Amino acid sequence: MNSIKMFSKRSSWKSDPNRLMAQLERLRSDGMEIIHLIETNPTRCGLIYDTEGICRAVSKNNILQYRPNPKGDPECRRAVQSYYETFGKHVSADQMFLTSSTSEAYSFLFKLLCDPGDQILVPKPSYPLFDVLATLDDVTLASYPLVYCQKDAEWRIDLEALYDAIGHRCKGIVIVSPNNPTGSYVKAEEIERIEAYCERFGLCLIIDEVFLDFDAVDCDPSSSMTCVGRSRVPTFVLSGLSKICALPQMKLGWIVTSGPDGLMQEMNDRLEWISDAYLSVSASAQAAAPWLLSERGGIQDQLKARIERNHRALSQSGLTDSKAFLYGREGGWYALLGVHSSTSDEAICCRLLEEQHVMVHPGYFYDIEAPDPVLVISLICAADQFDEGIQRMLRCLRSG
Ligand SMILES: Cc1ncc(COP(=O)(O)O)c(C=O)c1O
Repeated sequence: MNSIKMFSKRSSWKSDPNRLMAQLERLRSDGMEIIHLIETNPTRCGLIYDTEGICRAVSKNNILQYRPNPKGDPECRRAVQSYYETFGKHVSADQMFLTSSTSEAYSFLFKLLCDPGDQILVPKPSYPLFDVLATLDDVTLASYPLVYCQKDAEWRIDLEALYDAIGHRCKGIVIVSPNNPTGSYVKAEEIERIEAYCERFGLCLIIDEVFLDFDAVDCDPSSSMTCVGRSRVPTFVLSGLSKICALPQMKLGWIVTSGPDGLMQEMNDRLEWISDAYLSVSASAQAAAPWLLSERGGIQDQLKARIERNHRALSQSGLTDSKAFLYGREGGWYALLGVHSSTSDEAICCRLLEEQHVMVHPGYFYDIEAPDPVLVISLICAADQFDEGIQRMLRCLRSG
């Protein structure tokens, strides 16, 4: 895995020892206005939040009493249960653990499943934070490839390569559905094969569904289903308010567990023990969650309309004149842009930043390996910034 320690939600880029981030820092300190075509912080994208409703939800009277519960507040867990009922899935609030974020949920699961040096398999390309989270828990990561099929404009898990990547100390396989940044959902036949491997080698499945709700309009609804409640192998589904309600600052995530009865009792007991050591979720986040989840439609509709609008604008922006092409996407918040060029993705990003003051991510930040350089663009940016950024980007690509 690429050793670059960067990811979009870190509060500072300053310690990142790479060229692009150093350049961004220099331009910023020169007072240059940068168009962030990779803005992933929804609270900076001009969305209209129900400010009064949110403030009312976090300041309920019941936050004044401390009622520790290792699984999290029961009412909050029932609200998460109702969220899954909208997908037609019943999960017991008893098999649910609230955490302060999805990142913390990963950390709890690494503690649960791994001794130092044990192995977890993660997709490649994917979310760059895995590297950091695994290092912090002394877990060794190995990756399995997602391969882009140009003909079908679709990403698929290379199941043979995944099988070969399972080491003798492997304890679990992570699936991100839809994946960041490829936007691809895990397919029914893929998850079945992966479960068969898990059964064979005694592994657990961790399924990160933080972007689940953001399926593309033309995505087959049957492929964007949640994996909660699967029972063949120990399964841990992760999500949280960070993306579902576009409120990363609320710091509320969760783990929903399921699997063979004989194994899950002990897994749940141990997970409860880990959660009990931290009790990390704040009373106000838990008090607010039932209202935030029930009202998520307001912010999700805006985000979905924004994503579709920006994706359409990008695909109609004259990409071929700029030797660029869009990768197929099924969901999520990102678009991948391939560029027919003999230079590297980082060189293109540096030039774009220097000449046009537009910031996008090079594909290598996410371990994308492709014949042509790949740029990663966020589709949640405000439309005017997005359009201006795309025009500048295409100008740069055309001239180089
Ligand atoms: C795939 C994926 N999982 C988890 C997270 C982190 O979510 P949280 O803010 O709940 O830690 C992100 C954040 O971008 C992500 O892209």
